[in-house]
Amino acid sequence: MINVAVLGYGTIGAGVVKVLQTNVDSIEKRVGERIEVKKILDLREFPGDPNEDKVVHDYKEIQEDEDIQIVVECMGGVEPACTFVRTALLQGRSVATSNKELVAKHGAELIAISEENHCNFLFEASVGGGIPIIRPLNQCLTGDVIEEISGILNGTTNYMLTKMEEDGVSFDEVLKEAQAKGYAELHPEADVEGYDACRKIAILTSLAFGKQLDFEGIHTEGITNITAEDFRYAQKMNKSIKLLGKSWTDDGKLYAMVCPMLLDNSHPLAGVKDVFNAIFVHGNMVDDVMFYGKGAGSLPTASAVVGDVVECARNLGTHLPMIWEKDKLTLDDFGSFERNYFVRMPAETSLEAIEKAFGAVDMIQVDGIEEKAFVTGIMNEKEYHKAADSLGTAINMIRFN
Ligand code: HSE
Repeated sequence: MINVAVLGYGTIGAGVVKVLQTNVDSIEKRVGERIEVKKILDLREFPGDPNEDKVVHDYKEIQEDEDIQIVVECMGGVEPACTFVRTALLQGRSVATSNKELVAKHGAELIAISEENHCNFLFEASVGGGIPIIRPLNQCLTGDVIEEISGILNGTTNYMLTKMEEDGVSFDEVLKEAQAKGYAELHPEADVEGYDACRKIAILTSLAFGKQLDFEGIHTEGITNITAEDFRYAQKMNKSIKLLGKSWTDDGKLYAMVCPMLLDNSHPLAGVKDVFNAIFVHGNMVDDVMFYGKGAGSLPTASAVVGDVVECARNLGTHLPMIWEKDKLTLDDFGSFERNYFVRMPAETSLEAIEKAFGAVDMIQVDGIEEKAFVTGIMNEKEYHKAADSLGTAINMIRFN
């Protein structure tokens, strides 16, 4: 018998307990031993819950229980989760977590502690919910040099953009609808401002390149400026608009950013709709691969956590190699990368002024929208801003992928 403690009995923690208990027999076959949820840490009481007798309110009860071999952390936030996880790893207990804030901030440190203590710190569920992406990056794709990761990493904003694209509704309307459906939080900043996607691309990039990428250094823009009109222009250009978390190498330089981007409809990420997530990876040998599925929700996320519990259970006493060193990755200035920009200027902007500022551009017209909209030639951000500022204030600008 292998005993597990679950920290946090909210949406994900309850899902983990449900998956472990529902699939107990098939999991036992895969591990070779039965896995039992022995204790659940939560501040609340759960009267009537089938697991109410397992609930404890003080982490010490888990720390001092010598029968517990694996700890599952589903509390969210950095503290006290980090202290509990660190303590468990120092005791030689493996940890599986869904907590992206914890992993993005302390991933390198916690992996190092797990190595020193012959256990594992696994975090498949921290990016893309139920989508396998951490283990593929850490195992299946290790023969490649990764040259690009582009992800739709946030289900809430992908749902909102899909509704704006398909139903022509405004940002404010779709946000209210997403909140009513329980997809968006009452305080939706982490999703709509891109902060959630930023932590996730920081985790994927750290793993792909083997060193710590601090999320604070990633240029991040959310979707609050995107309008239904932008989608009408995008449709005219045979493109979609997606909030992408991206990192890529070019000419020996490493870039990362989070922002809404225009994608060709033929790009595999363009067809990813609603709350689904997808991660597109380009390796120098494998070429393009894409991982697709449910990026959030109790059971999909719990499924990934339990996959990690099984991996921990199969490898008790053995550290599985994972390269994510504490040394920092240095990003190059994303603004020095050259690309095309889609720009919307007020109707009164003259064509002569646009061409004087930007050189040759492709004008885009959509019925019923009186503006001057165009696609620039290839230029870097500094060149773009110099040209755009000379024309006045743009209604919006969206980068080409
Ligand atoms: N708020 C996140 C999303 C949940 O919408 O994708 C999963 O991290």
